[in-house]
Amino acid sequence: MEDIIKVEGVAKAYGKHQVLENLDIAIKKGECFTLLGPSGCGKTVLIRLIAGHEVPDAGRISIDNTVVADAQSGEYIPPERRGLGIVFQDYAVWPHMTVYENIAYPLKMEKRPKEEIDQLVMKMIEVVGMKGLENRLPSELSGGQQQRVALGRALVADPNVMLLDEPLSNLDANLREEMRFEIKALQRKFGITVLFVTHDQEVALAISDRLAIMDAKGHIRQIGDPYEIFEKPADLFVFKFMGIANFMHVTQRGNDFVVGNGSQVVPWDKPTGTAASWVAGFRPSDIEIHRQGPGLKGTIHRANFLGATMDYAINIDGESVRTELETHTAINNDLMFKEGEECYITFKALHWFDAEQLKEVEE
Ligand SMILES: Nc1ncnc2c1ncn2[C@@H]1O[C@H](COP(=O)(O)OP(=O)(O)OP(=O)(O)O)[C@@H](O)[C@H]1O
Ligand SMILES: [Mg+2]
Repeated sequence: MEDIIKVEGVAKAYGKHQVLENLDIAIKKGECFTLLGPSGCGKTVLIRLIAGHEVPDAGRISIDNTVVADAQSGEYIPPERRGLGIVFQDYAVWPHMTVYENIAYPLKMEKRPKEEIDQLVMKMIEVVGMKGLENRLPSELSGGQQQRVALGRALVADPNVMLLDEPLSNLDANLREEMRFEIKALQRKFGITVLFVTHDQEVALAISDRLAIMDAKGHIRQIGDPYEIFEKPADLFVFKFMGIANFMHVTQRGNDFVVGNGSQVVPWDKPTGTAASWVAGFRPSDIEIHRQGPGLKGTIHRANFLGATMDYAINIDGESVRTELETHTAINNDLMFKEGEECYITFKALHWFDAEQLKEVEE
């Protein structure tokens, strides 16, 4: 598939604060591409650069094979001529306009005939599930309804590309889940390219064809499909960012690797490559817990009943590990542990990282 948005070597600083530097991203036509990263890492800045509300200090941005910003030549195409539908993070809708007027706005700007506007707006009101509320003002709508109006306004002019900066942040968990499926469905239905920004790992995995994981310095650590990002993390930062993670320090003793400072030899494939010391990374769902060995022996130092799951913190030779077990599975298999009891753990999956990487994310 051909690239529709190309960001090449882009840099942006505010005063002495270098937010983005030498950033490259290419988004393919028709895909849903998500930017995921910690607060303040530069996601909104990147969206604003692509939208044309900021100009890059260096580098070049093209949309649909047209250069829209080029720091070197000074080329710059204003936002309204970039053919983008945008939902910004900081404001959703215009407070003084009704639902109808908000959604009609981009079409009025394009000076489309009144009848055509009416037809398109009414159709979009239906698509975003706002029928019957078209004459309300935003103050008479819930946060979630306002975000739907914003989505409708972004979609109505039939853009090829949509930039959505945290469009679901005001929604409660249920509505957020519903809307993420709706966005995905709209994207498929209209064949739109979507650049989506979120904090929410679960939303990102559910909605994306590909994701980019950014670190706090605005560097891209990995680009891949949801499976690659979750199962084949490029480094410890990506692994940690994508969900609850356990890290177990592992020490080399001769040919063996032992857990922490104890004497239990790790039973898995040894790390390959060179590092002064290693950590093993795994998620709560990567572990199985047993009453008897084989496996690494530990002690339950905290047992929490969370309803559907049991949450155990296990101490293994000074290393703390969290695991999660379905309550029914625990009951049916005599795995309702009490604090202080002995247990054994085995692993379904595990990743090796250089221990230096752990220091870096813990800074
Ligand atoms: N106009 C501006 N002037 C000065 N600094 C700015 C400006 N816009 C953004 N910044 C800074 O750039 C950095 C990146 O901001 P940005 O809004 O892109 O973060 P973000 O990744 O979108 O975060 P969040 O997830 O919280 O929305 C922040 O440190 C921010 O303070
Ligand atoms: Mg932001």
